[in-house]
Amino acid sequence: LFARPWVFLKGCVRVSDLPLDDVVEIAFAGRSNVGKSSLINALVGQSGLARTSNTPGRTQELNLFAPEAGGIRIVDMPGYGFAKAPKPAVEKWNRLIHQFLRGRPNLRRVYVLVDARHGPKPNDATVMNELDRAAVSYQVVLTKADKLIEKDLAGVVAATAKFIAKRPAAHPEIILTSSEKGHGIDALRTEIARLRDG
Ligand code: GTP
Ligand code: MG
Repeated sequence: LFARPWVFLKGCVRVSDLPLDDVVEIAFAGRSNVGKSSLINALVGQSGLARTSNTPGRTQELNLFAPEAGGIRIVDMPGYGFAKAPKPAVEKWNRLIHQFLRGRPNLRRVYVLVDARHGPKPNDATVMNELDRAAVSYQVVLTKADKLIEKDLAGVVAATAKFIAKRPAAHPEIILTSSEKGHGIDALRTEIARLRDG
């Protein structure tokens, strides 16, 4: 399903650095430190592919990955909402994120990652508003599920469902994941394979 090895294709600091839009792309967006790069590594089963860090602001470019055999690309995005970063850097990342999300014709789905401990925040809503306006399909993935106990998870899922209920471009199903423990990874893989083929 997810033929290895996956390789790093390119890091793009501006949208004009992007390769041709001739291959389906799936992007991972979300607040800084939410676990985007970790989830990509878990999905492809290669722990060192995307760089991860405990310090927010690790991913600063649009990093593109693909199976060596081709057929699909995964885009690891810089995080948003990182309050401590210098203002010019934040503005640059935000511009890059928004230009990419609005204007990429081969962007088939955006996974908007939300920390299961915190639920969706105002800057997640900003990104979703933009995706709605651009009619780009997106789906919420709750991350770090291993950090919560079962009964609290149900509450976050319900609150998140309410948050996206009236959004036109939102995929209604919420995926609960843990890159650390492997929860939800197979479900996500199956979906991405379907998006690639469909
Ligand atoms: P930026 O690139 O800075 O925006 O961050 P990111 O969203 O790519 O996050 P990254 O994958 O680098 O992970 C941030 C931190 O969260 C790291 O210390 C990871 O080990 C940790 N982390 C990621 N996923 C999980 C998870 O499922 N469970 C737990 N417990 N920790 C996780
Ligand atoms: Mg990252």
